[in-house]
Amino acid sequence: MCGIVAYIGTKPAQPIILEGLKRLEYRGYDSAGIAVLSVPSGSKTGQVKVVKKAGRIANLEAELKNVAPAGLPGTLGMAHTRWATHGGVTDLNAHPHRDDKAGICVIHNGIIENYAALKTYLQEKGHRFISETDTEVLTMLIGELYEGDLEAAVQAALREVTGAYAICVMCENEPDTLVVARKGAPLMVGIGAGEYIVASDASAIIAHTTQAFPLDDYNVVKITRQGFRTSTTSNIAVNPKVMQLELDLEEIELGTYEHFMQKEIFEQPQSLRNTFRGRLQKDDGKVVLGGVSNFAKELVRAKRVILTGQGTALHAAMIGEYMLEDLAKVPAVAEYASEFRYRNPIIEDQTVVVAVSQSGETADTLAALTEAKERGALSLGVVNVVGSSIARETDAGVYLRVGPEIGVASTKAFTGQVAVLAMLTLFMARRRHMSTDACTRLIEDLESIPGKIERILEQDAAIKKVAERYCERENWLFLGRGYNYPTALEGALKLKEISYIHAEGMPAAEMKHGPIALINDGMPAVFIANRGRQYDKVMSNIAEVRARGGHVIAIATEGDKEIKKAAEDVIFIPDIAEQLSPMLTVIPMQLIAYHAAVLRGHDVDKPRNLAKSVTVE
Ligand code: G6P
Repeated sequence: MCGIVAYIGTKPAQPIILEGLKRLEYRGYDSAGIAVLSVPSGSKTGQVKVVKKAGRIANLEAELKNVAPAGLPGTLGMAHTRWATHGGVTDLNAHPHRDDKAGICVIHNGIIENYAALKTYLQEKGHRFISETDTEVLTMLIGELYEGDLEAAVQAALREVTGAYAICVMCENEPDTLVVARKGAPLMVGIGAGEYIVASDASAIIAHTTQAFPLDDYNVVKITRQGFRTSTTSNIAVNPKVMQLELDLEEIELGTYEHFMQKEIFEQPQSLRNTFRGRLQKDDGKVVLGGVSNFAKELVRAKRVILTGQGTALHAAMIGEYMLEDLAKVPAVAEYASEFRYRNPIIEDQTVVVAVSQSGETADTLAALTEAKERGALSLGVVNVVGSSIARETDAGVYLRVGPEIGVASTKAFTGQVAVLAMLTLFMARRRHMSTDACTRLIEDLESIPGKIERILEQDAAIKKVAERYCERENWLFLGRGYNYPTALEGALKLKEISYIHAEGMPAAEMKHGPIALINDGMPAVFIANRGRQYDKVMSNIAEVRARGGHVIAIATEGDKEIKKAAEDVIFIPDIAEQLSPMLTVIPMQLIAYHAAVLRGHDVDKPRNLAKSVTVE
């Protein structure tokens, strides 16, 4: 979603915020803009120059070369990548926005829900709008309320607003002030030496400083070159918690890979080693999860677990549902956060809600979590980004530790989420009924996963050939049963997201209840046919597809001789306990999607219309 970077200090702002903006490109966007405030010599007030363009940051850079070949002068500035919500993708609708009275300039991530009423009020006051955005309404409102104190005007405006926002505001009358605020959309302030850099996430800050603090909801920070002050929208002083950013610049750079998605697929053996490190105690048949150990009793007594998330995270949650019922013997259900939130869910005593999210900022998941907490559930987070909103809102949690995920199509976060849910399952199962031996066997299998993924990745060239054979086909099916039904959904989602091929994932058995009508000559059908309880049934489903002319690409267990006769193409994975197999079966599907998208000429790290982290409901 929208990316925000702002700078106040003593260096030229433009190169710093443009570089930061590029680090946020992965969030997904459709236009970009920049504003820099300069102070003419002898003047006490500043002048803001805004340049903004629909399309990629490269368009903005080209426009900047035209209008300001030497760069926009000034040491206070802000830049933004927009992911359209209100109003089309046009230069005018891009941020920053300006007011028509007080020299106010704003960038914003989120949605101002009562913008229509506010706009009517402001129009009656004589303001003239030039864009279709809710952000311009907020900008005019701040301008309308401005009486010589930018911080007070922002606080007053935000008290009138409903919706979600992360904003940066500057004003020509106050060239030494940057005001930033947040409710429901992420924002953090990086503290450098005599300079501050504000951004939607740490990746735009880390090149400048490792000291930063995230804003809480309703926080407003007034930053000057001398220091900062944090308060609420009601002007009550707040003490922010400054933390040390642990991100390594190398982790967010491409290195020798062509795309972040490719890099992250290949990082999975290492990222999972990090996920498991120090948490698996094979000899004792125990899993140690420091983040939830204070709630061990509640987890043992839990009567129901509700897992929730969106997109890829929901697919991981579905696998968690299967594992918790099968291995920990606790009733579990996985549900889209967006549906859970609004269907008046029944939360009985001793219910645990697990919010699964890579970013920890997904608005739907955050809203579901809040709802569940209000109804008395114990809330756990299975989150990647340390210090993110979901990580802070939950009672306890387990971090994925897979490192920053930049590729918009989630890969290493998925395997990390399944790995954490598997460990959470064993943590509960061992305390409820599972024997040491049974747990030890599963821990051995967990430990073997990174090495087994390496063996699958060695088949990259052969998997690319499969993608080459079928990438021109516009309709694909992904089919699996049991634990690999959610993985089939994930395989289809990967292909849709980056190659724009229509793909449907479903339980293999469901195919004959309708979707079988779609099968025509040569239609690719990816079957997850690894060894497991439903292997024979999957083989029957494969035969049904072959009989109707479909081309079967099977993901099967090494040593399976039958499958070669049944499928056109076979990709083998090493043997593993069925419950843990999704962490292996998903790898070939990630690679197929990646190669198909590259072969079709798409930019896999910047897929059209998608946002990495969706911070609006
Ligand atoms: C967006 C992304 C998906 C992601 C989903 C949930 O839709 O494009 O890749 O799976 O959000 O994101 P989260 O950060 O909560 O895991």
